[in-house]
Amino acid sequence: MIKKYIYGNPIETDAVIDHISVCEEPLEELNEITSADGSMLFTYLMEKDDIVYGLGEANRGINKRGYIYESFCSDDPYHTEEKRSLYAAHNFIVISGMISIGIFVDTPSKVTFDIGYTAENLLKITPSDQNLKLYIISGKNAYDIVRQFRKMIGRSYMAPRWAFGFQQSRWSYMNEDEVREVVSSYRENHIPLDAVYLDIDYMESYKDFTVSNERFPDFPNFTAEMRQQGVRLIPIIDAGVKIEDGYDVYEEGKQNGFFCKRADGTDFEAAVWPGMTHLPDFLNSDARKWFGKKYKVLIDTGIEGFWNDMNEPALFYTPEGVSEAKNYLDNFDFQTNEQGKFFELKDKMSSLANRQKDYESFYHNMDGTVIRHDKVHNIYGYNMTRSASEAFDEIVPDKRILMFSRSSYIGMHRYGGIWTGDNQSWWSHLLLNIKMMPSLNMCGFLYSGADIGGFGSHCTRDLLLRWLAFGIFTPLMRNHSALGTRRQECYNFGDTSAFKDILSIRYSLIPYLYSEYMKACLNSDMMIKPLSFDYPSDELACTTEDQLLIGESLMIAPVYTQNAKGRYVYLPEDMLFVLFKSSSHRKSAVLRKGVHYIDAAVDEVPVFIRKNKLLPLCRTSECTDLMNTSMFEVIAFADQGITYEMYEDDGISKDYFNPKNKVKFEIKEVDGQFGAVSDKTIVKLSLF
Ligand code: GLC
Repeated sequence: MIKKYIYGNPIETDAVIDHISVCEEPLEELNEITSADGSMLFTYLMEKDDIVYGLGEANRGINKRGYIYESFCSDDPYHTEEKRSLYAAHNFIVISGMISIGIFVDTPSKVTFDIGYTAENLLKITPSDQNLKLYIISGKNAYDIVRQFRKMIGRSYMAPRWAFGFQQSRWSYMNEDEVREVVSSYRENHIPLDAVYLDIDYMESYKDFTVSNERFPDFPNFTAEMRQQGVRLIPIIDAGVKIEDGYDVYEEGKQNGFFCKRADGTDFEAAVWPGMTHLPDFLNSDARKWFGKKYKVLIDTGIEGFWNDMNEPALFYTPEGVSEAKNYLDNFDFQTNEQGKFFELKDKMSSLANRQKDYESFYHNMDGTVIRHDKVHNIYGYNMTRSASEAFDEIVPDKRILMFSRSSYIGMHRYGGIWTGDNQSWWSHLLLNIKMMPSLNMCGFLYSGADIGGFGSHCTRDLLLRWLAFGIFTPLMRNHSALGTRRQECYNFGDTSAFKDILSIRYSLIPYLYSEYMKACLNSDMMIKPLSFDYPSDELACTTEDQLLIGESLMIAPVYTQNAKGRYVYLPEDMLFVLFKSSSHRKSAVLRKGVHYIDAAVDEVPVFIRKNKLLPLCRTSECTDLMNTSMFEVIAFADQGITYEMYEDDGISKDYFNPKNKVKFEIKEVDGQFGAVSDKTIVKLSLF
């Protein structure tokens, strides 16, 4: 059951699409405290063993207890353990225990979730704005609550199937030849590849919707050349529009008043990659339509996917900030030995980026209502991606375009996926990636993934292999790294066979992964779940945070520590342990419910098939164009007849509900013997 409460006069975020009538009864699930100054607080006393799930793209574990989180989309590449805000704002939590309740705080400004940080058992939710919608969801358990929530916010964005192929990115491939070299290195080493990313250097002076003539002299021909090799190019689009006379996006935006404004009505300015920019007012529906149509320029050159970046929005500095800093420096006493002055000086300079004061200095025109940015900060990136996605529906109505964003708010999950921003080549960030995936799924962000290998810092061979071994199971599987870091493409770490083999596993799993992803999208369900969602009364399963369920048949237990040769795994029921070395080499053994130590070398991928479930595997390929999905090998762990319904479509059009999209695999007893039956050709059945 869902109860909706409205406080004040909230700004519409369009996060919820189901009609839910406002509850007239007083709120009883939470304590509501309003202070004399009008500020508002919701509190809840947690039981000792309550687990708190949610917050989507947030720091720390699957169970959010014990820390404090601030929902305020932040461009912060050093998300170390103490950080409270990442790139997204996903204000949905579920308290799970004797009583389970879901809470969605729907407001586009900052919200603080103190989940047992100040006091162990106290949950405190502090919205910075008192105008908001509050949804309280009750249900049987956490999973049931998540499914109700997911239904109410609408179906998740559905990516094309080729976007399940492996993708290579780096800031930055500077020109055609560099991209060609990446592609040929992958192909020569027979390491699968489906896409290469174009970061900001494909543009002319970092101007959105331009392509540098010098670096990519014949872009349409080049995209076609890549396409012939089974590779799609995915250009980046940044939020800031370069201020430059004669540049059409700038000129049109200025003329039509489509940029965010200062209090005096002038266009707000901030520096990002192109130098000084204006920010399109994505909260204005006309500006949204205008910007969205611009993507056509690149679609017309053969582009089929984009990533939207810097849309928190990230601000390197503003003229106002710089002039304050200059003033400070002019008056700075360099002879001082006063305690703290050194830190003050340092902070003054480093806090020029993403200043709260700057976020409070510009305005949106939300279709007639003028609103200060900080009040709607968390829905800026959301509406940039919405602008693109709504335009795609007009530009290419029958085709799925790959789209994912850095910043997001709940509701954006209907328009695109996300990547989790600038992480680092740290083992702790691999673990963070593992723990974040189910939380993202709870909030509807199914097409998601992290920068595999880590964006910042220098990656090592073992870290990349372990990260890939986990990345096999995330819908977005992209290796991305920053300028200045060690080259991170799979062929840059000596012997390439392990990389080729690990990626071969991904490609034989794509039909299953795509099926589980699409079913989760279509049914507003989760593709990646914590163990506790399927084994809610198993205490050990409820506290296991480094193993995940992938679709209905698989459990994974990735290795995420350096020099490990294996790890301990908890099996909440008997399972079939399959240790993949490649798509065609593997060892299997049935393991009983309980704790086991499993060996998993740096070039091996441990997978567990659940009891009375099956896994269809196709032959591996070097890109999705070459995938053959007419023949399957089936691995099953069954002591009875079972059925697996695989979702399969053409992967590109939008014919989601065609009954032909359902393909059955059955393990059946025929003449006293179990065998596999399907419309697909089954080349081999391995039944345990
Ligand atoms: C931001 C993005 C990163 C990109 C870089 C340059 O830091 O998060 O992915 O490579 O900008 O465009």
